[in-house]
Order: sequence, then structure tokens, then C-alpha cells
Amino acid sequence: MRIGTVEIPNRFVLAPLAGISCTAFRMLCKENGAGLIYTQMIDTVLISGKTQNDVKQFLNIQEMERPVTVQLIGSETNALIKAVQAVEEFADIIDLNVGCIEDDYLKKGCGAALLKDLPKLEALLKAMVDTTEKPVSAKIRIGWDNQHINGVAVAQLVENAGVSVISVHGRTADQGYAGKVNWTIMRQIKEKIKIPVIANGDVTSYNSGLSLLLKTGCDLVMIGRQAQHCPWVFQQKPVDIKQQILRFIELYEQYEVRQSPVEVADHVFWMLRDFKTSEDTKKVHLIQTIPQITRYVKRL
Ligand SMILES: Cc1cc2nc3c(=O)[nH]c(=O)nc-3n(C[C@H](O)[C@H](O)[C@H](O)COP(=O)(O)O)c2cc1C
Repeated sequence: MRIGTVEIPNRFVLAPLAGISCTAFRMLCKENGAGLIYTQMIDTVLISGKTQNDVKQFLNIQEMERPVTVQLIGSETNALIKAVQAVEEFADIIDLNVGCIEDDYLKKGCGAALLKDLPKLEALLKAMVDTTEKPVSAKIRIGWDNQHINGVAVAQLVENAGVSVISVHGRTADQGYAGKVNWTIMRQIKEKIKIPVIANGDVTSYNSGLSLLLKTGCDLVMIGRQAQHCPWVFQQKPVDIKQQILRFIELYEQYEVRQSPVEVADHVFWMLRDFKTSEDTKKVHLIQTIPQITRYVKRL
């Protein structure tokens, strides 16, 4: 599977997850078999003022993670162009967020708000394509609300703007994360356009990922929330959860810039969701240092 010149080794994609996708988390997903890694969304206004060294440190992408899609969020053409130029050197693919439903971003016309302003969306995507040689992608929802499901039209616009790959979260903005994912629209999008389509929404296991691929005919499948709890969802084989968590901490200590015990405790707590223990795992948040968190996990 290729996106532009970028080779994708398999059909499973790690979704962008703001507040979750630190370097160690992305690396653990990669070690477990994710074929394409997205960074979390990055605000174009924040990134465009940074030096190349700061951008490099901020993204902190390791070679073993590649290929990596760097996701941007913004609605202002000049800032977007500057942001593309800032991340280009470090990204294999550059993505525009067209699905975020956070109020602060919607107010500024970013994310899912662009589903209601197609001329603006088209101008932004064309500006990205004109700015970089790297493949550009877009991550959309299927529409604003049930009365305005325009996923197929948006996907056609995205393709015509010169974008190389599109991912589709099968919900409207109005739905947030509730209700069922609409895979019929994903299939219709796949049937109407030629660029690769990534299906996204509610995949809870490797096999349910395969079944979403079958139902929709899409080329790739993207996993978000299940990966937060199970970065091993990208592989079929059962894993030792404790070993996975210890590996996460090891990667974090080796590669992460922040070295924050709070961040490690968050991830450990999320990954312990399916671990059988009589301990109250919330208590991991009370631990003050990363080595103490490691000892806590070993004792479980
Ligand atoms: C905590 C959280 C953070 C997210 N951050 C982003 C983001 O930065 N960019 C984006 O396009 N989508 C973001 N999403 C949406 C996911 O990428 C994905 O589209 C959505 O969760 C549906 O997939 P899932 O059912 O596999 O989780 C986020 C979702 C969650 C729950």
C-alpha cells in the first residue's frame, strides 16, 4: 500500500489522540504493528512561530515510528502554510484536521466547522498541496449533523484539491462520540473517490478492524480510543499487559522530553483497564516518581 511515495506496511493506523499520543505511546503502537502513525493535532498558530529546533523537539518523532502523519489544525491560510513549512522536514504525510469538535476550535472556524464552509476547506487544502512535496491528507467526519450529511461531497472536494489520502470518522460533529458509526457513508465515499480511504470509528479489536475494512471496502482502518487502553490492539496475538506497560515506561524514560510522572501514571492507568487485579489502580496517580511507578506495576 502506497500513499504518494510513502510505503505503508499494513492496513492498521493509529488515530491522532490529543493529550494521549506522546512519543512513547506512538512507539509502543508501532512496536505492536501499527502501519501508520498519526501525531496528535498541532495548532498551526502555535507551531508556525517556532524555530526548526523547537519544532523538532516538540514533535519528537523517532525513526522507528515512520511513516508518520503530522496533523495540523487551523483555519487561517497563512498560518497553515507556515505550519506546513515548519513540520514538512519531520513528516512523511501532513494532515488537516476537519473533524475536531472542541468549542474553542469550532469558534475559530477550525476542525469540523470546515464541513460547513467548503470554499474555505478547499482553499486550505489547495494551499497545503501547493506548499509541500509531501503527500497531504485530511481527516473528516461524515457531516455536521443528521440533516447535513455531506461526507461524499466533502471527500470529492478533498480529492479534487490534490489530497493523497482521506480518513473518515463515521459520525457527524453533532454526534460527538455517541451513537453508532455510519459505515454506509464510509463505503459510499470509498466508491466515489480514487485516493485511499481510511475508515475510522469504534474499532475495538484487530478482528473488528478487519471487519470494518470488509464492510466499507476502505483501504486502511484507524483506531483511536481502543489504542489508548490497548496499544497492542494492532496485533492479533494475546499479550502480557504488564510487560507492555513496563515497555511503555522504558520507552518513555528513554525518549520522552517531558519526563512527567503524571503523564506516565495516566498511561499506566489507561492500560490497566483490562488487567485483572484487586488493587485500586487509580492509586497510581498518587505516585511521585517514574521509578516508583515501575515498581508499582511490577508488584501488581
Ligand atoms: C481523547 C481524544 C483525543 C482526540 N484527539 C484527536 C486529534 O488530535 N485529532 C483528530 O483528528 N481526532 C482526534 N480524536 C478523534 C480520534 O482520532 C478518532 O477519530 C475518534 O476517537 C474515533 O475513533 P475511535 O472510535 O477508534 O476512537 C480524538 C479522540 C479522543 C477520544
